[in-house]
Amino acid sequence: MSSLAATALFFLLGLVCGLAQKPVPTPVDEVLPKQAPLQPVPFSHKLHTAQGMKCLDCHPIREPGFQAGFPRESACMGCHASVKKESPHIQKLAASAKTRSPIPWVRIYSVPDYIWFSHTSHHKDAGLECQTCHGPVQDREVLAKEKPTNMHSCMKCHAQKGASNGCDFCHASQ
Ligand code: HEC
Ligand code: HEC
Ligand code: HEC
Ligand code: HEC
Ligand code: HEC
Repeated sequence: MSSLAATALFFLLGLVCGLAQKPVPTPVDEVLPKQAPLQPVPFSHKLHTAQGMKCLDCHPIREPGFQAGFPRESACMGCHASVKKESPHIQKLAASAKTRSPIPWVRIYSVPDYIWFSHTSHHKDAGLECQTCHGPVQDREVLAKEKPTNMHSCMKCHAQKGASNGCDFCHASQ
């Protein structure tokens, strides 16, 4: 075992043992919706889904399935090589497609690194709609965090759907 792996293992063991002694944190309700962040390019979900594009066209949940992910700029250029190409926003998009430097989208939903969360498990296996956890995205010009991602919100749904709420289900090394 490399010393790095050993350190990681000690850290994880510490985390799991530590958890066993920690009380369940008191649920703190997030104040939602949060203010929408200013994105580097003003992308509208409402406009684009009205063009008939589906969530998975742009967020394909690639293997191993943790992330829904963001679309490649080259995929945007399928339309924008001709649609609105005089717009400065589209020129910015074209430049990042050309240099293959992803647009630095400001993240809206995230959980800490020590949490195990998988889009495949929730969308494909459990059959949950994107909207259950992200709201009516197809109606939004700009996205803001409108659904909670705190521990209480995870556990509430797990209790309702009969999924496990053992501490190491979401916190262990798996
Ligand atoms: C044409 C491509 C496209 C389609 C179709 C699309 N999205 Fe997106 N999505 C994006 C882009 C680009 C961003 C980053 C900009 C933003 O946050 O608005 C994004 C951001 C998001 C985010 C925020 C991610 C984060 O945490 O920062 C969520 C959630 C999301 N999309 C869900 C959906 C859902 C649900 C659908 C279907 C109803 C959908 N998207 C359809 C391109 C798309
Ligand atoms: C299926 C075709 C299609 C795809 C793919 C597509 N768009 Fe669009 N986009 C459009 C249309 C149509 C408009 C509206 C043009 C208009 O207002 O005349 C638009 C408008 C926009 C605008 C507003 C431009 C302006 O200045 O008014 C932005 C920004 C944009 N798209 C970003 C994106 C991004 C980012 C992606 C990739 C994640 C993407 N688009 C993928 C069709 C598409
Ligand atoms: C059970 C709740 C749940 C469902 C269902 C769900 N998401 Fe998410 N989504 C989350 C959480 C939690 C995060 C933060 C994940 C992280 O930080 O690793 C997230 C993050 C994202 C992000 C940011 C980038 C990434 O992959 O981390 C996008 C985009 C996104 N979701 C789109 C979608 C789309 C599209 C669907 C439907 C196909 C969907 N989500 C279904 C809870 C959900
Ligand atoms: C709307 C309901 C819902 C929400 C919200 C939800 N889950 Fe789940 N989760 C489920 C269901 C149902 C399953 C069982 C899936 C299956 O049968 O495989 C599951 C399974 C899991 C699993 C086990 C599958 C795997 O990937 O190994 C983990 C871990 C998990 N959830 C973590 C989380 C975390 C962390 C959050 C909050 C950020 C969360 N869940 C929020 C419904 C939910
Ligand atoms: C269904 C998933 C899930 C289960 C089960 C779960 N947690 Fe969590 N836990 C989370 C998420 C998500 C966060 C991060 C919340 C945030 O974003 O701040 C978290 C954060 C924490 C934190 C640190 C943050 C804080 O608020 O203090 C502690 C401590 C913790 N959990 C303990 C536990 C214990 C003890 C159990 C077993 C009783 C447990 N967790 C079961 C999902 C889960």
